[in-house]
Amino acid sequence: LLVKGAQQVVRVAGAGERVKLGASMGDLAIISATQHDGVSIAVQQDGKIAWVGPDSEVGAKFPGARWGRVVEACGRAVVPGLVDAHTHPVWAGDRVHEFALKVAGASYLEVHEAGGGINYTVEQTRAASEDHLLNLLLPRLTRMATAGTTLAECKSGYGLEVETELKMLRVLERARPLAPLTISSTFCGAHSVPKGLSAEAATRLVVEQQLPAVVEARDKGQVAVDSIDVFCESGVFNVAQTRTILEAGRRHGLRLNFHADELTPLAGAEMGASLGAEAMSHLEEISEEGVRAMAKAGSVAVLLPTTALVLRLPLPPARAMIQAGVPVALGSDFNPNAFCLSMPLVMHLACVMMRLSPNEALTAATLHAAHALGKAHQHGSIEPGKMADLVIIDAPRWDHLVYQLGGNDHVITHVIRAGKVI
Ligand code: NIG
Ligand code: FE
Repeated sequence: LLVKGAQQVVRVAGAGERVKLGASMGDLAIISATQHDGVSIAVQQDGKIAWVGPDSEVGAKFPGARWGRVVEACGRAVVPGLVDAHTHPVWAGDRVHEFALKVAGASYLEVHEAGGGINYTVEQTRAASEDHLLNLLLPRLTRMATAGTTLAECKSGYGLEVETELKMLRVLERARPLAPLTISSTFCGAHSVPKGLSAEAATRLVVEQQLPAVVEARDKGQVAVDSIDVFCESGVFNVAQTRTILEAGRRHGLRLNFHADELTPLAGAEMGASLGAEAMSHLEEISEEGVRAMAKAGSVAVLLPTTALVLRLPLPPARAMIQAGVPVALGSDFNPNAFCLSMPLVMHLACVMMRLSPNEALTAATLHAAHALGKAHQHGSIEPGKMADLVIIDAPRWDHLVYQLGGNDHVITHVIRAGKVI
């Protein structure tokens, strides 16, 4: 595949850069067209980027090349495929009935304690067949991809027991060859405390039953699992219980990527940093100490503006994080509470609500999100050797993607994943 004639190719990172800290987060390494020459991206048969440079040099660089497909990007901007660092996409039964309650003032934890929230979705998901869950999942992933997402982290976590957690991971496995985007799976069996159990008993259930079963399925090649997640929150898993679960995951080689300091300041970020957690999400209630600890540990802060919007939460200190040198990433947090499949909308909200610059929002939604998933060596920027995951924008400046509120279907002309137009 050859993309040619582009007005702007936004590479985001230079060779080998895996993360951009502080002020450099806004440095996008843009290659612009000249008066006579657009910018081309040459893609190999294997779906990887071979070369980026002026249109006029393609002939000499690849003499006699027969491109499977040529995408004309004249007058358009190209950015890396977007990466969604946090989603809960496998579930049955929506929670549309809770929306009005929350708008009327019920808090997330009030709904949760009244048996709604996660536990409602757990009941529906336990009852659903694997085929039904797959049929619900695939159109969601397609909607994400249509809005520019080419790599998404996808969590289990609506089973809370061995059988359903494995079912969710198997559904993700079956989705892999069918979905128009790349999936990174996260085991989130500690997403909530199952009805009738104490958090202590639920912790044992995760560590002694769910995790070993998931690891066994992984080791037999039945499911791929990259990370382990826990909802560390008051009324869910406390900091000590979260630590126990994360340490058990670490012993089995999983990456640590968990929900921390969302609704209650518990110093979850400090604990995560002490374990060298690769990523932590939400962080609306993180302390200054927590920000420093994350910077020191190199943990990625995955910010989720949709949840803060829907639940009217205080906002995480995004600017202080960037200033302190924390790599900030973004996620849609798609789940029955925050029904959003669009990363451009998430980027827009991150700019308006959390005061990221548009450039920072793009780094957060590409390179840093890929880094949060341990995949920045293959995804998240337009570099030779990385996967050709690209989004073509119907405007000469890339930032129309974040400026235009919603309506991605108009501003995006092509989404390319691993060198194939989806
Ligand atoms: O990231 N906070 C915990 N987990 C999800 C919500 C999941 C749900 O409500 O179903 C989140 O917001
Ligand atoms: Fe979440």
